[in-house]
Amino acid sequence: MILQGKRVRLRATERDDLPLAVQYLNDPEVLMWFGQPAPLGMDDEIAWYERMRQDDGVINFAIEVEGRYVGGCGLTGINHVHRRAEIGIFVGDKSIWGRGVGSEAMALVMGYGFDYLNLHRIFLRVFAENTRAIHVYESLGFQHEGRFRDTEWRHGRWHDMLYMSVLETEWRQRSAGKVAD
Ligand SMILES: CC(C)(COP(=O)(O)OP(=O)(O)OC[C@H]1O[C@@H](n2cnc3c(N)ncnc32)[C@H](O)[C@@H]1OP(=O)(O)O)[C@@H](O)C(=O)NCCC(=O)NCCS
Repeated sequence: MILQGKRVRLRATERDDLPLAVQYLNDPEVLMWFGQPAPLGMDDEIAWYERMRQDDGVINFAIEVEGRYVGGCGLTGINHVHRRAEIGIFVGDKSIWGRGVGSEAMALVMGYGFDYLNLHRIFLRVFAENTRAIHVYESLGFQHEGRFRDTEWRHGRWHDMLYMSVLETEWRQRSAGKVAD
């Protein structure tokens, strides 16, 4: 299934995307507050791709802008009993940061989670210093739930992790408001 937004198109990640994904996911700026700060090779990425395809609890999308693969997003840990999942995103092409791509991709995945997977709750974890991402999540209606202190060590020091979530009812209220505007 393809999710088409105004500028952003979400589609299946293909093997042909993996070389660019490796390039993006080795970039220290992309990795500043995301992923694993370790060297990532093609074999690692192919192994991730194969695992992801076998995992019923994962829905992954490639983010495409003007026909170009620019990053990835999706839902993990999908639980159909408790109707919850964790959302994640990276825009690997830094030249387009700040142009609304991350926000639009997130909104498309959220809509997919609530409208097609019948989720009740979508949550995320974000480093407390990832102010750009936090701004995006707050703008989309994610509520702050808590702060886990000193959970991860990187850049030579400890970092806090914030938990945020949005419930289906909140998402629908916001969507109805947008239609009425
Ligand atoms: C976080 C990320 C997905 C955002 O994508 P994006 O395409 O740049 O997002 P958008 O352009 O939709 O929105 C960025 C918003 O942050 C704001 N912003 C930019 N830098 C900021 C900063 N340092 N602090 C606070 N807000 C900031 C922008 O003004 C914009 O807000 P606006 O739309 O109200 O003007 C992208 O930067 C990314 O992939 N980063 C690396 C990986 C990562 O951190 N992923 C998230 C892990 S939880």
